Amino acid sequence: MNSVRINGTNLAYTDTGVGRPIVLIHGYPFNRSLWTEQIPALSNSNRIIAPDLRGFGDSDASPDVSTMNSLATDVAVLMDQLEIPRATIGGLSMGGYVALAFYKQFPSRVRALVLADTRAQGDTEEAKQTRAQQAEKALSEGMAGIADAMLPKLLTPETVSKRPEIVKFVRDMMLQTKPEGAAAALRGMAEREDQTELLMKITVPTLILVGAEDAITPVADSEKMQNAIDDSRLVVLDHAGHVSNLERTQQFNDAFLHFLTHS
Ligand code: MLT
Repeated sequence: MNSVRINGTNLAYTDTGVGRPIVLIHGYPFNRSLWTEQIPALSNSNRIIAPDLRGFGDSDASPDVSTMNSLATDVAVLMDQLEIPRATIGGLSMGGYVALAFYKQFPSRVRALVLADTRAQGDTEEAKQTRAQQAEKALSEGMAGIADAMLPKLLTPETVSKRPEIVKFVRDMMLQTKPEGAAAALRGMAEREDQTELLMKITVPTLILVGAEDAITPVADSEKMQNAIDDSRLVVLDHAGHVSNLERTQQFNDAFLHFLTHS
């Protein structure tokens, strides 16, 4: 396992393949194994960097709030350490919030963007309160209750009933998350900026992917991003919910590879 010390915290990452660099940023409360099905498909012709964000997977948690800007800065420092000046930046859900924060801070370091099952808007007041409660719950009870409540929102009913291996994989990822890391990220997501204005300033080719049945960041959120980002295309994946890369692996990978070839 590769690991590097960034801003006082040990961060784990995968670095594999040769070619144009792509950074893949996982969502909440997952880790870099979210990309298990993408890494072999994409690393045939690209270099893939997939970090565990601070507080997730094999990375240490830090006591501070994990703002989207600080997580994006971690990614930029990791790229510095790996001598990668510019990359395609891809993120799923919270990873997409981090990718947008990255673009805002470091636009010249982004060759292209891949925004999967995510949105540009910030949280409503109600969502912020729910995040605060979830953060307390994670710290006092651990991740099991959060994982069980999230699963039916993350996956389609069809996946939940017919694909137990995906249910187990997603649940296990959530259970591996450190409660302190989850709480720090929940607080960071609650205070994230609304990036709607940023969308019109994005000048790099952008692929937007979303599960047709995504219950957390619905298709309408992706349509808004696609309408606002000039050089963007939207792919809606049938029979997929919020973790469309796992529920519709082949279609997700095909769309990603097609985008890389044509951008
Ligand atoms: C994620 O999958 O990263 C989260 O569900 C995003 C969110 O809670 O807004």
